[in-house]
Amino acid sequence: MSPVPTWYQTAVFYELYVRAFQDSNGDGNGDLRGAIQRLDHLADLGVTCLWLLPTFPSPLVDDGYDIADYFGVHADYGTVEDFRALVEAAHARGMRVIADLVMNHTSDQHPWFQASRRREAPYDDYYVWSDTDQKYEDARIIFLDTEPSNWTWDKVRGQYFWHRFYRQQPDLNFDNPAVQQAMFDIARFWMGLGLDGFRADAVPYLIEREGTNCENLPETHAYLKQLRAFMDAEYPEAILLCEANQWPEDVRPYFGGDPDDPTVLGDEFHMGFHFPVMPRLYMALKRGDRTPVVEIMGRTPSIPVNCQWCMFLRNHDELTLEMVTEEERHWMWREYAPEARMRLNLGIRRRLAPLLDNDRRKIELLNSLLFTLPGSPIIYYGDEIGMGDDIWLHDRNGVRTPMQWDGSANAGFSDADSLYAPVISDEVFGYQRVNVVAQKADPASLYHTLRRFIAAYKSQPALALGDLRFLDHPDPALLAFERSYEGKTVLCLHNLGEHDVRVAVPDGQDMLADAPVSAGEVSLPAYGYRWLIQ
Ligand code: BGC
Repeated sequence: MSPVPTWYQTAVFYELYVRAFQDSNGDGNGDLRGAIQRLDHLADLGVTCLWLLPTFPSPLVDDGYDIADYFGVHADYGTVEDFRALVEAAHARGMRVIADLVMNHTSDQHPWFQASRRREAPYDDYYVWSDTDQKYEDARIIFLDTEPSNWTWDKVRGQYFWHRFYRQQPDLNFDNPAVQQAMFDIARFWMGLGLDGFRADAVPYLIEREGTNCENLPETHAYLKQLRAFMDAEYPEAILLCEANQWPEDVRPYFGGDPDDPTVLGDEFHMGFHFPVMPRLYMALKRGDRTPVVEIMGRTPSIPVNCQWCMFLRNHDELTLEMVTEEERHWMWREYAPEARMRLNLGIRRRLAPLLDNDRRKIELLNSLLFTLPGSPIIYYGDEIGMGDDIWLHDRNGVRTPMQWDGSANAGFSDADSLYAPVISDEVFGYQRVNVVAQKADPASLYHTLRRFIAAYKSQPALALGDLRFLDHPDPALLAFERSYEGKTVLCLHNLGEHDVRVAVPDGQDMLADAPVSAGEVSLPAYGYRWLIQ
């Protein structure tokens, strides 16, 4: 008997980048008060949980994932009280809020690191120091374009320090019980502001061991289980969402429980991103062949009944191609990132709409898969209106440009003369054309399509909670599957090809058109999709 589904298993998430959302004080940066002013847009869309990107004091070398103070808010974004007000305002509109918990590393400007380099107690052992840079050589480098090594020499201490990301982000030493405890204190502080949980950043890398690739180690899992036990004891309604960019079989242990028995409750993370399915959605679409999606879902283990995957099409990072083969990566780069500037590390720094040639049919098709495959959907801010990108901006900033609210100056984002990043203003994706006000006024817009998806998704628990069964069809362009839950089945049909596909269906109801469908053959046009409930 399954437990009663909990809120996160049926949630619709929205990834909100505070800096890009709304500037309330005219300084050119979005801020927490500005985000509050825009919450009605998200409630109207049907979002049920916000995920806030980091808003901590930070030198912003990694856009806030380099934290200089875990107990504050960056002055550009407001104050801790503003943070509390944002959480309360979201709650008042029926939306929950989770935020990033960045455990693996701090900024090199964090006082802990400054004290550690001077070997000051008790921070001496807060980071991973070594006399040699020859340790842990089996660990890959993640920010390949920038970092030649995971070790950087610190002349103050006269030792190397370990970092999985930028050299300005030294890794904390999770073998140190004081660090382990400090993270609980940080979690408690933010939960005290009313949060509903955390997206735990970069968790595979917490602990290092010689002779391993330093990812997903048993010691890391042991600590994460302690974190979960702490959260369950103090905040039983809250969730932990795991960011582990790994193969499905390596993500499975992050849910905990018993790998052979999904009825045993998970005791590590409530949720985990499904990274590998994401590039395969793009691959399947470009090839007009369902195989990559069917294969990766077939390789996805079942998870405990109290857990849920998180699905996404894009996020604030490059579209990662770490979880594909080398050959597939090069194929993806050729197809989706023909210009060198579109590539970054092992990925592609482009947004959803430009990746899909701004073809409304393809954008809807991938969104349809986002809402019908297992896992809670996450919408990346701006993708609900098909925003564009600026590949010429530094690092991943090109997919983090100001939200396009209306056709007025600065897209209605800010009154300032100069913004943290330029608004997109090209002919195709410019705010003059692509903005929230215009799309709300047009019942045929992408915004309204997504709004209908969300309403339909919420009306039918099978889409969130149902079992998955793929159907066979002679045409590889047809990606058809059933989602079944408590006697209801939704048949989801997707045509990945540019030709019509005919498929036999039973009697049912078209959930999106809200019209009956009689048994017989239906024809799906190029990139067409249907959600049929029986
Ligand atoms: C975040 C990135 C960040 C990295 C290091 C990732 O998981 O999504 O934006 O650069 O962690 O904190």
